[in-house]
Amino acid sequence: MPRWFLERESDTPYFCVTGSPVTHSKSPQIHSAFAAQTGRTVTYDRIEVLPGQLALAVAEFQRAGGQGMNVTVPLKEEAYALAARKMGRADAAGAANTLWFEEGGAVVADNTDGTGLIYDLTVNQGVELASQRILLVGAGGAARGVLPALVAARPACIVITNRTESKATAIADQFVAQVTLEVLPWGAETSYPFDIIVNATSLSLQGELPPLPQKAVHADSVCYDFMYGSEAAVFTTWAMQAGAARALDGLGMLVEQAAEAFEIWHGIRPETGSVIAELRETL
Ligand code: ATR
Repeated sequence: MPRWFLERESDTPYFCVTGSPVTHSKSPQIHSAFAAQTGRTVTYDRIEVLPGQLALAVAEFQRAGGQGMNVTVPLKEEAYALAARKMGRADAAGAANTLWFEEGGAVVADNTDGTGLIYDLTVNQGVELASQRILLVGAGGAARGVLPALVAARPACIVITNRTESKATAIADQFVAQVTLEVLPWGAETSYPFDIIVNATSLSLQGELPPLPQKAVHADSVCYDFMYGSEAAVFTTWAMQAGAARALDGLGMLVEQAAEAFEIWHGIRPETGSVIAELRETL
């Protein structure tokens, strides 16, 4: 008996996003907009899959004729683990948000989150990353997903702070050969301010702020939360009150990581500005 994906009559290319919870995911809306824009007809479903069940769900999705799956919290590590072939970005992050299938059925995994963040920061927002000082707050899957791309952007340094310090140390150790990386104890003061502060914790969802160093912000700092709309408000409000130049939410990153997945699946890069603007109006 299928549990997630029914046999389909239609031969419309079939995609989905899995996660838990997944009901509020905007991926169907984003991918439908990209498809319309590029003259394609696709079906894109939102499917709740509990942790531990992704491999079964992926196999069922393949049987149902699925072509590509986005994976969101908390299944990104599971998605990475189950894939037979992993792209470098997924390897570097130890997590995947985009799956597809080779002929013969082998599952391929990639991670477009980091590219999405960098694209939003640099192209959409015009933020320079090279030679900048970056504070990365958080060391869970979301932080791990973007750290390789941040490292590749050649900042002056990346300082990671996380409630569970051992997780920050573990991811710092992985990249320390490539960039100046330090771990700041949770809640500790810093001796210098940062040009870019990225909140990759899930604290904004609970309306809470991480205990950020008072000296973290200077007048040109850009602060970025992975949440978007009202869910990012606690952090963006803090940033502006602390004197930052700009406070950004993660809506652009959400759309850009989807654009990157769309390009992998369909071989064409969609235009993102209008989709970001449309979504912004619905928040
Ligand atoms: P996951 O850890 O499941 O991959 P995530 O959203 O990427 O999911 O990570 C959650 C992040 O928010 C982590 O950095 C987590 O800190 P821990 O590593 O110490 O768990 C952080 N976080 C979540 N709730 C928090 C809280 N109440 N206080 C401080 N940090 C919190």
